[in-house]
Amino acid sequence: MAITKQARIGERPAALKAVPFFTQLGEGELEIIRSLAAEKHYPKNAVVITEGEIGDSLYMIQSGKVKVFIGDQEGREMILKILGPGDFFGEMSMIDKQPRSATVTTLESSVFLVLTHASFEKCVERVPRIANMVMRVLAQRVREADKKIGTLAMMDVYGRVASTLLELAVYDKGKMVVSEKLSQQDLANMVGASREMVNRILKDLAERGFISVESKSITIINQELPPSL
Ligand code: CMP
Repeated sequence: MAITKQARIGERPAALKAVPFFTQLGEGELEIIRSLAAEKHYPKNAVVITEGEIGDSLYMIQSGKVKVFIGDQEGREMILKILGPGDFFGEMSMIDKQPRSATVTTLESSVFLVLTHASFEKCVERVPRIANMVMRVLAQRVREADKKIGTLAMMDVYGRVASTLLELAVYDKGKMVVSEKLSQQDLANMVGASREMVNRILKDLAERGFISVESKSITIINQELPPSL
């Protein structure tokens, strides 16, 4: 259940400044957004947006993490993206007023700044370059989706696991680490394979010295991950 409260001017400047999407904006622009947005708090594992439903709000992630996925009637999930602080979601239905294209659930307790279509339009009137920023993110998402289609169509599961690990990895103290709180089932849902298959591939990659699997992270030792067995 979401707890809603209207965001007030002057609140949380430090938290907003810390996230990439907002850091491109000046303090005056941030105040305008804050004055038009509602702040919503969600616990871990809460459904924020449901695929197929009508909705017109854009959610900016102030803190926390969400997964964006599409599902089928058997309960299978295909994870499209993990989003974190500074990212936003819900822009598609806000723009074209069509049903939500995917479901979004929280992976940890999260705080969002929520703009309805009407408040987003006011925002664009007063901060015109926000429209450009949203367009740039949309272009980037199409690029990533194209890449994913290519990976799904042209690589076997082994290659898909390898390319997803590289996509998720970030440099941390000189090492490439996947530290997302992802279960093997989540990884399987990202590559369209069974959990057992992903488990076997991770074990194989670890035995061959390409990765090391720790309890909460995976370190990529050799970035030349093999594209197939
Ligand atoms: P909307 O369709 O309103 O609701 C679901 C949201 O999931 C969608 O807007 C986007 O914000 C997000 N979404 C859908 N597909 C992707 C994708 N491939 N990558 C990242 N985010 C996505």
